[in-house]
Amino acid sequence: MTLKIKSRVRCSDRDVGEVTRVIIDAIGKSISHVVIQLDDSERVVPLDGDTVITEGLVQFGFPSSKMGQYPLLDRGNYQQVKEVEIAGLERHLEVFPGEVLVPVPTLERDITRRTFFTNFTNAIGVVLALPLVYPVLRFLTFPMYQGFDNRWIRIGNIGKITEADKPKLVKFQKTVKEGYLEREFQKSHWVVKISDALREEIYHGKSIEYKDSNGKVYWVNKPDNDVVVFSGKCPHLGCAYKWKENHKRFGRVFWCPCHLSIYDSGGKVLDGPAPRRLDVLPMRIAGTGEIEIIDAEFKAGKDNMIRII
Ligand code: FES
Repeated sequence: MTLKIKSRVRCSDRDVGEVTRVIIDAIGKSISHVVIQLDDSERVVPLDGDTVITEGLVQFGFPSSKMGQYPLLDRGNYQQVKEVEIAGLERHLEVFPGEVLVPVPTLERDITRRTFFTNFTNAIGVVLALPLVYPVLRFLTFPMYQGFDNRWIRIGNIGKITEADKPKLVKFQKTVKEGYLEREFQKSHWVVKISDALREEIYHGKSIEYKDSNGKVYWVNKPDNDVVVFSGKCPHLGCAYKWKENHKRFGRVFWCPCHLSIYDSGGKVLDGPAPRRLDVLPMRIAGTGEIEIIDAEFKAGKDNMIRII
């Protein structure tokens, strides 16, 4: 007897619903399960030796209370038989109206076959293209892997800085290479001719060492320099700060308008949110009296100087 869609389903104690779909075993080419429409759900129930199938009726030997143990139908786990090719199925299974399902292989439940092959093809493409693309990427991103720029830049002559503890803003042109492009722009720093008091405040009798990212010392500022150069960027968040001769509370100070950090002429923080004193740049004086600096930049907002450029 052929099992028909819409057959009634009866358990040992009562009718429970009707067959809405059948599921076949693609290898055995026989019906393995029926999908039963209960009052509020569709459940997948296996056909076993105790199941009696007659015209328009499927009779199970177990009570209706057991029906809840069978899994709910998850339609995503099945395909319609007409969507797949199962050789010779029609010889084993009489075709009748309704939905005949076959389980989707486990591998394909997680990733569809098409997606799998698309991703696989893309991955092979990437592997093949890598040797061609790598040199181009390397060229374009070269500046990222470059070490810091430790060129000495002349910013002015020490002869022009005459008055001690009176900062002077010096402007200079800097050339920067970005990939294959070269850009020139203007920068400014503060130069201060230091008194002995300021020398002590800045150096505390010791040299200042500058280290690269590997911890190697690339320059040492000696305390016997007559001038000091402060980076023009406020260590709080990098704004440009100014010199004020007549601050209401502190008198002669460096003053940052962004968040009102205040520093004395030796760069010490007097007030405001600045986390560290002004950054003293690596510097030297050439034989002709030219002040030369390494135009390093340090991370803003940190309490110590971490070089970033
Ligand atoms: S950037 Fe100068 S105080 Fe914030």
